[in-house]
Amino acid sequence: MNWKNDAHAWGLVSILLHWAMAVLAVGLFGLGKYMITLDYYHPLYQRIPDLHRNLGVVFALLLVLRLSWRWAGPLPEIIASSRERVLALLMHRLFYVVMFGVVISGYLISTADGRALVLAGGIELPALVSGVDNLEDRAGEVHWFLTWMLAGMFALHAAAALKHHFIDKDDTLRRMLGMKRREK
Ligand code: HEM
Repeated sequence: MNWKNDAHAWGLVSILLHWAMAVLAVGLFGLGKYMITLDYYHPLYQRIPDLHRNLGVVFALLLVLRLSWRWAGPLPEIIASSRERVLALLMHRLFYVVMFGVVISGYLISTADGRALVLAGGIELPALVSGVDNLEDRAGEVHWFLTWMLAGMFALHAAAALKHHFIDKDDTLRRMLGMKRREK
């Protein structure tokens, strides 16, 4: 398998980034929903949010890498009728917009009080925006809304991939798994 995309297939870099981010997105969603149920005296009250923030930053770095890689090379043509192709393209673009929105709102929640976001190894991300009224609450609402939107898009997107595989019997899912094309 090639490491770069071509007009018909995803390369190894895109495939690894896609699945790593899919796993991270699910993990972050689970951690995020779990951590808001913890009360102050729970032994994991600090640890789970710390883990969530660190993995969120890893997700953000992968997102920037993925978008740069996407812009730098060719994209395989979407296998579908022209109407479905437009829908798929819109969905993929919306994914990127929502993923950025989730990352940025998460960063704003963590730095709204003007203090830097401290990551594993003592790495500090400075607070770039602070002193805005109710910033933490507003960013929290946006983060909540966008994470549920991402979950809904995830369900639609996965259902579409399964429809391509089992009903249309085309190579859409196979090529994102790095598998050979079906014999025609
Ligand atoms: C069970 C989970 C998933 C399955 C089965 C799946 C499947 C696929 C497949 C088959 C493609 C390739 C479409 C094509 O070749 O035309 C694709 C692309 C894509 N997927 Fe997923 N995916 C999953 C989870 C996710 C998640 C969680 C995200 C976002 C967090 C995501 C974001 C994307 C994006 C943005 C693209 C377009 C890539 C691009 O154009 O750069 N996927 N997915």
